[in-house]
Amino acid sequence: MSAPILRKLADLRAATAGWKRAGERIGVVPTMGALHDGHLSLVAAAKAACDRVVVTIFVNPKQFNSPEDLAKYPRTEEADAAKLAPYGVDAIYVPDPDQIYPEGFATTVSVSGLTDVMEGACRPGHFDGVATVVAKLFLQTAADRAYFGEKDYQQMMLVTRMARDLDIPITVIGCPTVREPSGLAMSSRNMRLSADGLERAGRLYPVMRQVAEKLAAGASFGDLAPAAREALGAAGFVDIEYFDLRAADSLRALDRPTEPARLLVAAWLDGVRLIDNIAVPQLND
Ligand code: PAF
Repeated sequence: MSAPILRKLADLRAATAGWKRAGERIGVVPTMGALHDGHLSLVAAAKAACDRVVVTIFVNPKQFNSPEDLAKYPRTEEADAAKLAPYGVDAIYVPDPDQIYPEGFATTVSVSGLTDVMEGACRPGHFDGVATVVAKLFLQTAADRAYFGEKDYQQMMLVTRMARDLDIPITVIGCPTVREPSGLAMSSRNMRLSADGLERAGRLYPVMRQVAEKLAAGASFGDLAPAAREALGAAGFVDIEYFDLRAADSLRALDRPTEPARLLVAAWLDGVRLIDNIAVPQLND
C-alpha cells in the first residue's frame, strides 16, 4: 500500500507525535528523490530496525553549486512513491519549500574541519547546505535513527558530527554502498550518463580496488596515484577533482593505510560528476 505523502510540517508532527506517545522508534531516510536501489537498501535497513519509517524527499537548493545543476536534478516523485510502496514505509515527507525555508530563514549550520577538504573544498557552500537541511529534517521528523549511505562518506561523517555537536538525539547509521554489476556505485546522477558513459564509469571501481589491494600489500599512495589517474583518464574521466587516501575517522591525508583508511575520488565523465570511495585494508605493523 502507498504511504501517505505529507507536504506540511504540521501533518508530519501530528503523525510522529502519536508514534512517540506509543513509544515507537522512528527511522528517517533523508533523500532528494530519484530513488534507486541504494536508497531502497537504506529504507530496508530502517524498516528492519525501527517501528516507523519516514522517507523524506526534498531537492535542497542550498546544497547545489549552480542553478543549472539544481535545474537538471531529476524529480520523479510518482515513480519514487511507487518504488517505496513494497516497503510499507509510514510516511513520505515531501515538504513544500516554505516548510524547510520559511520567509526570512536566516540560519546556516556549518561544520568545520571535516568539510575543509574534498567535497567541501571542491563545492564551496555545499556542506553548509547539507548540514542545514539535515539538521532541520532531523528536528522535524524527531527520528531516533537516520540512515545514510557510505557512498557519500564525507556527508555521513558530517551529519554524524553535526548531530553530536548540536545534541540532536538521533543515531546516524551508515549503510554499505550499493553497486551495479560493473561495480559502479548507484547514484541518481548515473541516469544522466549515456550507455557508453555508463560502461566507462564502471571502470572506476576496479581501478580503486587495484589501488586498495596494492596499498594493503605495502605500496605507497604517492607511488600508485599517477598510474591510477592515468587509467581513469584512459576510461574517459576528465577533471579528477580529488583522488585521495585519507584516515577513515579524521579524513587526514595518508600515504599508507597505517590506520583505518578510505580511498575517495571525485571525477567528471560525460559532463556528470561522479564520486565514490572504498575502505582500504589496514597495514599490519
Ligand atoms: O544525500 C542526499 O541525497 C542529500 O545530500 C541529503 C542528505 C538528502 C540532504 O539534502
